[in-house]
Amino acid sequence: MKQISHLDNIPSTPGKFKMDKSPYNRLRWHSSLAKLTFWSFIFLALIFIFFFRSPSSSTPQALSDPSRRYLQNYSWGGAAWEKRVRSSARIRSRNGMSVLVTGAAGFVGTHVSAALKRRGDGVLGLDNFNDYYDPSLKRARQALLERAGVFIVEADINDEALLKKLFEVVAFTHVMHLAAQAGVRYAMENPSSYVHSNIAGLVNLLEVCKSANPQPAIVWASSSSVYGLNTKVPFSEKDRTDQPASLYAATKKAGEEIAHTYNHIYGLSLTGLRFFTVYGPWGRPDMAYFFFTRDILKGKSISIFEAANHGTVARDFTYIDDIVRGCLAALDTAEKSTGSGGKKKGPAQLRVYNLGNTSPVPVSDLVSILERLLKVKAKRNILRLPRNGDVQYTHANISSAQRELGYKPTTDLQAGLKKFVRWYLRFYADGKKSGV
Ligand SMILES: NC(=O)c1ccc[n+]([C@@H]2O[C@H](COP(=O)([O-])OP(=O)(O)OC[C@H]3O[C@@H](n4cnc5c(N)ncnc54)[C@H](O)[C@@H]3O)[C@@H](O)[C@H]2O)c1
Ligand SMILES: *[C@@H]1O[C@H](CO)[C@@H](O)[C@H](O)[C@H]1NC(C)=O
Ligand SMILES: *[C@@H]1O[C@H](CO)[C@@H](O)[C@H](O)[C@H]1NC(C)=O
Repeated sequence: MKQISHLDNIPSTPGKFKMDKSPYNRLRWHSSLAKLTFWSFIFLALIFIFFFRSPSSSTPQALSDPSRRYLQNYSWGGAAWEKRVRSSARIRSRNGMSVLVTGAAGFVGTHVSAALKRRGDGVLGLDNFNDYYDPSLKRARQALLERAGVFIVEADINDEALLKKLFEVVAFTHVMHLAAQAGVRYAMENPSSYVHSNIAGLVNLLEVCKSANPQPAIVWASSSSVYGLNTKVPFSEKDRTDQPASLYAATKKAGEEIAHTYNHIYGLSLTGLRFFTVYGPWGRPDMAYFFFTRDILKGKSISIFEAANHGTVARDFTYIDDIVRGCLAALDTAEKSTGSGGKKKGPAQLRVYNLGNTSPVPVSDLVSILERLLKVKAKRNILRLPRNGDVQYTHANISSAQRELGYKPTTDLQAGLKKFVRWYLRFYADGKKSGV
């Protein structure tokens, strides 16, 4: 678009151009010089358009390397910094593990980090504190972890030098990889952020892990969204996942394939967890249960989607504590990687599990529960589900996780939302945090 506006500034005919440029009209060559200048300009403009045409970018700077746009320089290193890193990652229980948790200032990352720390494992967090949603919520989670003795290194998972340094300072036994660009609809607004974090960032992390000695075992968050347009319910790990309905889902699916590759070539032990709509205290403001709560309290109308023919849109909402137990069980049952020292000594573990609740709830029921808990009537605005990535229905078959991880969700939506609402009201009660 911007290139076009350059052309707008050029007069439409050389004649007019001559008129403007040489009011005295003294010499003939002046006109040919003007013509030459004009055509050279057109030529350069065409070259510019040819080389730099890109739908998302308006400045040549941003074009050089899309992934660099998100990379910031954070300060790290030095003796004091290394001491903090070591102390945070120090194991304090017998048979404990030392875990690098990426996305530690995120919703799930905060809960998992705190749970690991509580039982005596060493935990070091990593997060870039991006502003996809209110960073002050991430800072509040950071303060919570700080009090629990967990240090969060502020950096991007694409920062190879930093990740290498961390593995030099600490011989992590495990990586809990939760950093990602989440959200289904935002993928249409900012597609490259998904490629940056969920693909490039994942590859960078796995590159560093495969070269670490010893190699850590890795547990990471995939998503129920990989089931995409699959209509066979409940979703089982064996079902097809080759019809993603959003770029977010496609990057998570790509992650699962990338995991296969690093497991196959380098002997990395890898476990992917397909989370089903996780909710709870310290949750994500971009998710429906969270912004419904905010909007109901504000008296704003909320949009509730329904599918064709008044079809119900439902989600297998899973409470955060259940997800945390699933994550810890995946870490506890992870076998060692087999490629330490640069040579794969045998096949390594490669797993994928659904972590859901196995009881889908219609979104309209979610709203009714919130109305009861908040004691406020919602202004409901029923809309047709747009085709922008959200699927109509999710339902997990968790029999593999049950069998192999001992995973068994215990919190229903009513009980879980009660805890969420209690947290929400307390957290946003003191005026300073009211700007969600
Ligand atoms: N919450 C859910 O319902 C749900 C469902 C399915 C999958 N997941 C997955 O679970 C994981 C955790 O989700 P969450 O709900 O806690 O999301 P979240 O956005 O709260 O947490 C992700 C954290 O990662 C950080 N991050 C993002 N890109 C980064 C980068 N390039 N470098 C360093 N840090 C980066 C963010 O700042 C954020 O704090 C994500 O991988 C997400 O895709 C979540
Ligand atoms: C970050 O630091 C590197 C090396 O010090 C430098 O080359 C680069 O330009 C810096 N990037 C930004 C965005 O400041
Ligand atoms: C759930 O998946 C298991 C395989 O892991 C399968 O045996 C079982 O039949 C599935 N259950 C349902 C209800 O589809």
